[in-house]
Amino acid sequence: MERVSERRYVIKGGYPLKGVVEVSGAKNAALPAIAATLLAPGEYRLKRVPKVKDVLCMLKILEFLGATWSFEKDALIINTSGINKTSVPYELATQIRASVLFLGALLGAKGEAEVPLPGGCAIGKRPIDLHLKGMEKLGAEISLYHGNLRVKALNLKGCEIVLDFPSVTATENLLMAASVAEGETVIKNAAKEPEVVFLAEVLKSMGAHIKGEGEDTIYVKGKKKLKPAHIEIIPDRIEAGTFLVLGGLLEENELEIKNVNLSYLEVPVSKLREIGVYVEKTGKRSCLVKREKSLKATKIVTAPYPGFPTDLQPIFTVLLTQAQGMSLVVENLFENRFLYVFELNRMGANIKLEDRTAIVNGVTPLFGSPVKATDLRAGAALVLAGLCAENTTTVYNVELIERGYENFVEKLQGLGAKIEVETL
Ligand code: EPU
Repeated sequence: MERVSERRYVIKGGYPLKGVVEVSGAKNAALPAIAATLLAPGEYRLKRVPKVKDVLCMLKILEFLGATWSFEKDALIINTSGINKTSVPYELATQIRASVLFLGALLGAKGEAEVPLPGGCAIGKRPIDLHLKGMEKLGAEISLYHGNLRVKALNLKGCEIVLDFPSVTATENLLMAASVAEGETVIKNAAKEPEVVFLAEVLKSMGAHIKGEGEDTIYVKGKKKLKPAHIEIIPDRIEAGTFLVLGGLLEENELEIKNVNLSYLEVPVSKLREIGVYVEKTGKRSCLVKREKSLKATKIVTAPYPGFPTDLQPIFTVLLTQAQGMSLVVENLFENRFLYVFELNRMGANIKLEDRTAIVNGVTPLFGSPVKATDLRAGAALVLAGLCAENTTTVYNVELIERGYENFVEKLQGLGAKIEVETL
């Protein structure tokens, strides 16, 4: 029998949620920023780093490589002066997909890296061929040694790289390596996610010459020596999107969300308004969200930024179970991102899967059940489902949620949610 985790969330659903909630710094911006600290030895001060499991795991890898780190009152201090290894151990690398970012960072910093080949994961196969092709073009030799990827280059040389697909971490890996390569690198069909733009900003504050971030083509003029920098992590758009959906989930919900950058969320916010959720900007970094009227069905199609984010797909599907009519949710990025649908159906949802499309028929009242998180975003979606379900929902495997949501339970409790952590 499959094992479930020791910790679980017990949720009593149906209580209206009201109040103010503050979004943390983005996990997926913090992870590449942490890897980038390898590119110039010295002390870095990073603000608004979320204390989530993936970040702590990334820091453990950095420590293994020879760095020191500590959380001070308002910042994470990293010192990379003592880096003396270029090989990431299997035990740590396999805990976190983002360990692949050490390939580009170590290649740039030390001319070599050895990182265990990341396997598939719960949401899909997730190959890294585009990362490797790009590094090869920059002059790296790539080999597989006892399950570890080895990349090595005596001299990284600028070149033109055309990505077959605008992969987020491939673009980030190539940006890091190209920043210290000789000459100019042009990355075409680059990812445009805010986290990629943020990494470019970080590298620029370290002295790199980068232009075009946020557009299809990024130009990087390599610089031999970079310098440490002070970094402030951008707000987490996926966590913000999660609270935006929560605001519209129950009729009496009304949330004020702080540290949100709505310009990162144009497509999801326009979908929310179309569904019937009221979202209004109340300040530079804050907004109000509540249910405006009865919710109505829509079609959602995931796509690279600025398209609808795959990470919000499971969370919106929960909202669509409460919307009148038939909604279509098409997942174009990860082939396995619908596992949570079986759990939602056990709670009373009416969702059919046809290849890469979920057909959601609403409105279906949800009722409390034991359910299991299958990945980080699916786990958050199940918590939201529990918050609008009758009676008690128990969510298992919550460690997956804690990989990416900082103080999720405490933030929900602050809004009046009846959610408790239990240990088996
Ligand atoms: N792909 C390839 N070859 C590659 C790289 C990617 O075929 O070499 C394909 C993937 O299989 C997938 C698509 O390209 O079908 C997009 O993947 P991408 O590489 O952009 O995703 P990622 O960089 O592995 C990041 C986030 C994910 C997020 C995706 C998409 C980080 C650390 N991870 O992953 O975040 O879902 O972009 O936006 O930034 C999460 O936070 O829960 C999460 C999974």
